[in-house]
Amino acid sequence: MAEVIIVDSAEAAGRLVSDHIAEQVHIAPDFVVGVATGSTPLPVYRALAQRRERGVDFSRASAFALDEYVGLPEDHPQSYRAVIDREVTQPLGFDPTRVTVPDGRAEGIETTGERYEEALRASGGVDLQLLGIGTTGHIGFNEPGSSFGSLTRVKTLTEQTRADNARFFGSLDEVPIHCVTQGLGTILRARHLVLLAFGEGKAAAIAAAVEGPVTASLPGSALQLHAHVTVVVDEAAASRLKHADYYRWAQAHKPAWQGL
Ligand code: PGA
Repeated sequence: MAEVIIVDSAEAAGRLVSDHIAEQVHIAPDFVVGVATGSTPLPVYRALAQRRERGVDFSRASAFALDEYVGLPEDHPQSYRAVIDREVTQPLGFDPTRVTVPDGRAEGIETTGERYEEALRASGGVDLQLLGIGTTGHIGFNEPGSSFGSLTRVKTLTEQTRADNARFFGSLDEVPIHCVTQGLGTILRARHLVLLAFGEGKAAAIAAAVEGPVTASLPGSALQLHAHVTVVVDEAAASRLKHADYYRWAQAHKPAWQGL
């Protein structure tokens, strides 16, 4: 069962999650953060960048991205390598040699998944994985039908995900068809999963992931199999949760020692 935390705003979620990450990095400077792209995690990165100004040091921490588009030119501003560099590596002060993004270049694509799994293993594994959820219920780019045992591999994006992400590109035609993504099996190996979602558009996916049946048709439901999951949502994204009152009650009575 996931812990569900309903907050007033994306900024409040950013503060909550960034407090926790900053604390963990302070305790363990070599902390490994799994980073996500898209709009959802941006409030966390912005809050962490502010904490950096107040002395949180990410220079010995590592970051691994969830996914990457296949075949974008290396200097494309929407490649996830570029996005992570812009939103995470630079503003938070990570050592760029400790930030790894799946290799989406067409050359060598057959082995890219295996190479990424090896890099993850060599790091000792992800301590905290940030996740968004797609309107299809995907986490990473694991679209409906993804195996719960899947590892990093090339996947085909759904038309819905391509349409959702077209806002980052000039047109729908420019959105790649393929991606490399950590598998659900890869994601489930991270020690702590933190799923964030904001806005009414995510309400159905969140309700299905948190309270629906565990099914490959809704990849986010794989989180129900993990022992340590924190779901942080605003009121709009929480609006279809049947047990929202219980989650609020549990938060109001949460023992202080528990932390996130
Ligand atoms: P978003 O994407 O954060 O841009 O809504 C989430 C996702 O597709 O996983």
